[in-house]
Amino acid sequence: MRVCVTGGAGYIGSVVTEYLVAAGHEVVIVDNLSTGHSGAVTDNVEFHKGDLLDRSFIESVLSGSIDAVCHFAAFSQVGESVADPLKYYENNVSGAISLLHAMKTAGVTDFLFSSTAAVYGEPEETLIEETSALEPVNAYGNTKLAIERMLQDCSKAWGLRPLSLRYFNAAGATKLHGEDHRPETHLIPLVLDAALGRRGELVIFGDDYSTPDGTCIRDYIHVKDLATAHVLGLEQLSDGITGALNLGNGQGFSVLQVIEAAERVMGIEVPRRIGERRPGDPAVLVASSGNAERLLGWKREYPEIEPIIKDAFGWRKEHPDGYTA
Ligand code: UFG
Repeated sequence: MRVCVTGGAGYIGSVVTEYLVAAGHEVVIVDNLSTGHSGAVTDNVEFHKGDLLDRSFIESVLSGSIDAVCHFAAFSQVGESVADPLKYYENNVSGAISLLHAMKTAGVTDFLFSSTAAVYGEPEETLIEETSALEPVNAYGNTKLAIERMLQDCSKAWGLRPLSLRYFNAAGATKLHGEDHRPETHLIPLVLDAALGRRGELVIFGDDYSTPDGTCIRDYIHVKDLATAHVLGLEQLSDGITGALNLGNGQGFSVLQVIEAAERVMGIEVPRRIGERRPGDPAVLVASSGNAERLLGWKREYPEIEPIIKDAFGWRKEHPDGYTA
């Protein structure tokens, strides 16, 4: 298949590109490099620098015999989305509208969408099913849910074949591609940097949650496992697989468990202190990913936290300043 990957210079998009190429697909990357990195663009892959809001740009890319689109390009910082919602609606929702217009014009119907656990907000259940209530608590989650709903409407109206993949806490790295957000807000890269002395001590956002050790529990899924789910999903869109699927690890780890696992992996102590709770953090978010396993035939290779951290650490050691190109 010839697949257009929007956001292919970003964290998850670059890893999925790597896996699609390895699976024998031809990839065309579209990225405006606003948060992605040119150094993350997979070698020998066709790359178009441009913005999805530029309709003529994306129409010209899609006019080149594209079989399917994997859409990652989006802003994804929860806190920023609360402070500046229009930035998120414009880039994420308007960008998706422009992309879908271009797909309709070009007659491309197969669409894999990078969605998020943030569509669930702060659910009551600790094991979240796709049928759990969709009540985002921030603008980021609202934009992703709006797009999911738009995809269903386009599916009914003109035969779009969409599959939304709702990621929980993506983590880890391949040898070639890793996590480089600026600013970095995610736990595992911050833990590594604190241990490596590249920033101050790690602040644990609260230890008074109703969890066994008082710190928040999350479902960390290896980005390699995410990538295999994307390849499977893409290859099965033509069989009629559609809707939304959770992609998680099925088990949760607390902030303290992540820190302790990182210390075991690195053999270095992580300097830390307990700080205030971060607003909007639910105590526990763990996915039920049974549907993805059953429907896609997906099997996770990395259910434990140590191998995920080991890969993240390996990439960080090789790229202490992240992508430099
Ligand atoms: N944490 C700390 N200290 C830090 C950073 C994080 O204690 O310096 C804690 C958080 O409070 C949370 C856990 O580590 O309990 C994980 O936090 P992340 O910021 O790494 O990830 P989130 O769970 O907040 O967010 C992730 C994705 C979002 C997505 C969300 C869905 O990064 O894009 O899951 O719930 F929207």
